[in-house]
Amino acid sequence: MINSETINKINEYLKNEFLQDQARLQHIMNVLKVALDLGEIFVVDKNALKVAVLLHDATKMLDFKENYTLASKMFDKDVLNQVPIPCLHAYSAAALAKVKFEIQDQDVLNAITYHCSGRPKMSMLEKIVFVSDYIEEKRDFVTDDLRELARVDLNKSVYNIMLQTKAYLIKNNKAISDLTDLAIKDYESEVEEFND
Ligand SMILES: [Fe+2]
Ligand SMILES: [Fe+2]
Repeated sequence: MINSETINKINEYLKNEFLQDQARLQHIMNVLKVALDLGEIFVVDKNALKVAVLLHDATKMLDFKENYTLASKMFDKDVLNQVPIPCLHAYSAAALAKVKFEIQDQDVLNAITYHCSGRPKMSMLEKIVFVSDYIEEKRDFVTDDLRELARVDLNKSVYNIMLQTKAYLIKNNKAISDLTDLAIKDYESEVEEFND
């Protein structure tokens, strides 16, 4: 179980780590606000949710090599070499959670790891972190419709966000995570089945 002492420790860590980057810290707090709202609606453990959100971008200021080295403490090179570079911070953040803060809850570690790409068959906690990261108040490209959808149909909003992310990456000639593609296909086949 995650206690409030762990959460206090993480808050202290973030305060120091982001001393020079208040915008990043503000993003994390904005995500937390949305996540706690969704967490009430879809009923997930509050402390687990807090830890996942607080740590999801905790390694964002590390460079590639630092991220890779830290992530290697938890993931095989075969896995890490498949991760698009902009999502590597998610893997190093999970390693930070596990190694530094001794988080053992696999659902929390997964929510951190997959907050960037998403993946097929996400847990409720994973979905909430994924969606909250995208729709927090400062994301000015997000419509109110999408924010409202999240509170009503979390699966559909995960799907919509993945489609938007994919379109953005294609437009900007950036690599898309295999996991995002798989998750999109997975959602589409589930909806098809449902409609049969
Ligand atoms: Fe992130
Ligand atoms: Fe984020």
